[in-house]
Amino acid sequence: MVQLDPHKLPVHLAVIMDGNGRWAQQRMLKRIVGHQRGAETVKMVVEQSSLLGIKYLTLFAFSSENWSRPMLEVRALMTLLKKYIRQETARMMRKNIRYNVIGNRSDLPPDVNETLDEAIRKTAGNDGMVLTLALSYGGRQELCRAAVRMAEDAASGTLSIGAITPELFGSYLDTGGLPDPDFLIRTSGEMRISNFLLWQLAYTELYFTETNWPDFTINELHKALVDFQSRQRRFGKTSDQILQRGDLSND
Ligand code: FPP
Repeated sequence: MVQLDPHKLPVHLAVIMDGNGRWAQQRMLKRIVGHQRGAETVKMVVEQSSLLGIKYLTLFAFSSENWSRPMLEVRALMTLLKKYIRQETARMMRKNIRYNVIGNRSDLPPDVNETLDEAIRKTAGNDGMVLTLALSYGGRQELCRAAVRMAEDAASGTLSIGAITPELFGSYLDTGGLPDPDFLIRTSGEMRISNFLLWQLAYTELYFTETNWPDFTINELHKALVDFQSRQRRFGKTSDQILQRGDLSND
């Protein structure tokens, strides 16, 4: 197992869990089997992140664009999600993890929303890791929703246009109240952001691995985190400034 410095972990880890379909197809299995195996990897990453003391874990579980997949796959994914949340809520309570959801929840089937509401309500008092599931989520859609709400508030007089700053804008996003991710992992060899957290990833360190999500192991997670620990985060400053001031602020 690779050596991790417990004092230099990301506060917020975000993951694009990609490659379930390819994992299954390479084994002549149905794509949903890949998603089922992917759900096992989710359990491992949630457990490990919480054990390591990561405060925020955000998983891209279903994108706005995933609705255009074959209906059977969409249905199977919704069923899997519901099953995962129902099964895992007791563990979330034991591990002091709080559920959170970002994305356009009005697109989700009512039974999925009910399951999510129950899990969010039950875990609301937990003050350990915050597990955010991005569901029916798209970064551009989130930015548009925020812009609409800001326009509504400006029209009703509760928001003054001169008060709009990046911080205020951020508070209108689904992720309002969450810090920006420090580290993003994407599996399966694709090197793109795919409409995930477009605003929030401005200064995030990115990590890509060829491994498909169902094959992503604890050791790979640790390897990715060790890589994160070797990065120098400059937030637009010079290397010398960072070394002199030990200053990691985002201004
Ligand atoms: C991407 O693989 C993955 C998804 C679209 C869904 C992610 C879902 C899970 C990991 C399982 C259920 C989630 C939870 C939170 C329990 P892909 O299908 O795009 O793979 P491909 O690119 O190889 O086709």
